[in-house]
Order: sequence, then structure tokens, then C-alpha cells
Amino acid sequence: MDTLIKPQVDRNWWRQGLDFSRLPNMVTESPGPESRKLHGKTVDTFKGLSSQVRLHPVCFKQGFGVTLTDVDGNTYIDFSSGIYVTTLGHCHPKVSEAVAKAAHTLMNCHDFTTPVKAELLEKLVSILPDGVNGVQLYDSGTTAVEAALRAARAHTGKHEFLSCFMDFHGKSGHAVSLAKMNKTNGAGRAEGFYMVPRPNPYRPHFVKSDGMIDSDAYIAFYDEFVENATTGQLAAFVIEPIQGWGGSVMPPEDFFPKLKSFCQRRGMLLIADEVLTCMGRTGSYLALEHWDTVADITTLGKGFGNGFPVTAMVAHETVKDAFDRISASTSYGGNPMACAAALASIQVIEEEDLLSNAQMLERYFERRMESMKAAHPMIGDVRVKGCLLGIELVKDRDTKEPFDEAGKRVYQKAFRKGLAWIPAGHILRLSPPIIMDQEIAVKGMDIVEEAIAETEKELGYA
Ligand SMILES: Cc1ncc(COP(=O)(O)O)c(C=O)c1O
Repeated sequence: MDTLIKPQVDRNWWRQGLDFSRLPNMVTESPGPESRKLHGKTVDTFKGLSSQVRLHPVCFKQGFGVTLTDVDGNTYIDFSSGIYVTTLGHCHPKVSEAVAKAAHTLMNCHDFTTPVKAELLEKLVSILPDGVNGVQLYDSGTTAVEAALRAARAHTGKHEFLSCFMDFHGKSGHAVSLAKMNKTNGAGRAEGFYMVPRPNPYRPHFVKSDGMIDSDAYIAFYDEFVENATTGQLAAFVIEPIQGWGGSVMPPEDFFPKLKSFCQRRGMLLIADEVLTCMGRTGSYLALEHWDTVADITTLGKGFGNGFPVTAMVAHETVKDAFDRISASTSYGGNPMACAAALASIQVIEEEDLLSNAQMLERYFERRMESMKAAHPMIGDVRVKGCLLGIELVKDRDTKEPFDEAGKRVYQKAFRKGLAWIPAGHILRLSPPIIMDQEIAVKGMDIVEEAIAETEKELGYA
């Protein structure tokens, strides 16, 4: 088809003009004077900033590949990908040109079929697990999650949901009801939404006699919970395959196959919220592939359009007919620019063999973080899948008491040294683009380790 420009892109496009020896390249303090001026102009107007910005209010003017440049001319190594979004790096030429071409051709025609949408649907189904071939397109992770809940209710005729402590699914009414209530959503949890603990190998609730986390005990608890706390009208169990905001928490190897069987036995669907983990972030298209599990419904977002707001809800063929009972009509879902971005992003992952690159990076990150853990007593746990990383800082390895002050200091110190990344209290969250190579990954991890070492010194650890 001819709706897209298909430039031949060299996998090393982002290296062009980049002086590796001067990366990061900090020419002023960070945040510098221009950042402070610009941020100061907006801070009273744009309210409710994330802690990522509040802790380090720098202003960016450009992103290219694995780097970000601020308004003072400082160039940072990007270990955040926006917020787990630009998985293929900033401004990938193929994605940007595909969006630009669509923006000059046809921007919106509601949910009529377009050539680019047809091509996206075919490509998307080809990379999803066998049998997953129902799709609806949306414009944010939250709207995709809401649609998944509607679809599960339509398919099962039931209305209740189980979700997990510390998972995150978005900020609309039902999405917040799937998550921890905090002061930003004092309206309370919607009826029929229940939360249960999920297995976190570093902080287990249930362990076997050998001290290893006990997935069977979690499942047994879920059974008991369903019997005693719900009306038994459960439409679905909603879960992030790897907990993103909760701090890159990986499940035990046997958990997801067991959870799938539990859902089948209880007559509820398994909804995998892969908004954060999809499209190569963990070294596979879907994170659940790591545990040979296929969800009934899956939500996709963030890296799906590599920065362009496009998301999806996809379903197994046994469930997809329910989609006909929940209209796919939205103002922006599936518009030609969105479809072009998502299609080009998948093509880039294939053409540049980026799943293998993410797996290669995982092996490096794993070795490096294990050696950092051995060297730094403040590090309680390290976790990685592909380019989704977490480093948990604790006051004491025996008590595992979270060390929020250390997390804040490490975040700010590393940012000042030229690493753009994401804070989460005592858990350092790293999310570099999967196009990165080991040379830059090493530079980024060197900065993280330096910041940890300096913080340990300040706080009396070393
Ligand atoms: C797992 C998960 N689901 C849903 C969402 C909500 O996505 P959005 O911010 O695009 O609405 C997020 C956002 O961080 C997420 O991490």
C-alpha cells in the first residue's frame, strides 16, 4: 500500500552526529538558568506536576534517539523513554515520517476503515499470540482499560473485578477503582471492585518451607477471597504482567499459568494490562509471552505508537464477539495518524530486530545490577526484563525498610550528572529505549552507580 512513506532506516540512525565521548554533555548546572526561567513561567498555571518534574524541574526542547536536550543545551542520556513511551527512541525517522504523511493526507474519518488501519490490523494480529485477533483502537491506556472492563462485562454477563495491590491502570473512574485509593481520588472505589495481593518475590506474603515464594498459596487465597468477599459475579481478574509503577516487580515463574487456570476454573476472564509492558519493552511483544500465558483480553499503549497517542484493546477470538456490544466509536481512536504511528512502530521493531536488542541489553543490565547490589548495601533488590528495570533501596537489608530519602537523592544526583529517568519513592525505575547499545547503557548505569555511591556516603552507609 502507498499511504506511508517507507524510508530505509539504518539501525544506527540515532548515532549520526552523536559524539559518544561527550555524552552526557552538561554545559550548565541542571536545571540550568533557562530551565528555571521557563519552568517558573508555567508552574503557577500547569498544576499537579508529577514527582518526576517536581524533583528536577528541567525543560526539554529536543529528543533524538537515546538522548534528550534541555533548553540550556545540556544533553542527557535517556533512561525514561518519556514515561515508558518512546520505546524506539525519540523521533524515530520512520515513525515520524509516517505520522507526518498521514497528517498531510487524512487526519480523521471516525471509525471508517482506511488503508493504513487495515494494514495495521493485519500486522498487529500477525505479531500477537495465536487466536488473539479481535482489536479496538483507543487514544490512551486508560480508555483501553475501561474498554476492557466493558468487554469483560459484556462477555461474561457479570460485573465484579479483582485486581492487585500496587498495580496501576489509569485515572478514570473505573481504572482508579482497580488500584490503590489515595487522596487524589477521594470519591472511593466503585462497587464490585476488589483488590488482592500479588506475589512479589522480594516482599512475599506467602512462602514455602524452602523460603521461596508460594504461588499456590496466593491462588488459594484468591479462591477464599472470591468465596468470602465477593458475590461470585466476577467478570475478570485484571493485572499488570510486570508491575510498572509499583517498581518493575516481576512475578514468580509459575504464577501466570496458575492464575490463568484459576480464572478459567472460576469462569472469569484474565485481562492483562500491557499498556506499559508491550511492544518490546520487556524483550517480547507482550510480557505474558515470557510465561507462556495468553490473556483473554490485553490492553496495549505507551510504546504502541512510540509517542503518538494510540492504544488498543485486543482479545482472543473466543471473547472478541463481545466487542460488538461495546461500540468502538471514539473521536480519536484509530485515526489515520495513530494507525500510521502504530504500524510504523511494529515495522521498526521487526526491521531492526529490536526484540533481540532488548534481550541483549537485559543480559548486560542483569550482570551490572547484580554487581552493583554486591557493592552497595543500600540496594535491597534488583530486577530486569528487557529494558524495564527496578532497583529497590532499603535502610536495612534484613528489615527491607523502604528508603525514600535515598531514592529522591539518587534520582536528583543522577539527573544533575546527565541521566533523564523516573523516580518512584525508594524504587529507582529505569526504562531506556530498546534501540540503545551497550556502550550507552554502560554510561547510564555508571551514572546510576555513582549517584548511589555518593548517596550512601551522605547517609552514612560507606
Ligand atoms: C499499566 C498501565 N495501565 C494503564 C495506564 C494508563 O495509561 P494512560 O496514562 O495512557 O492513560 C498506565 C499508565 O502509566 C499504566 O502503566
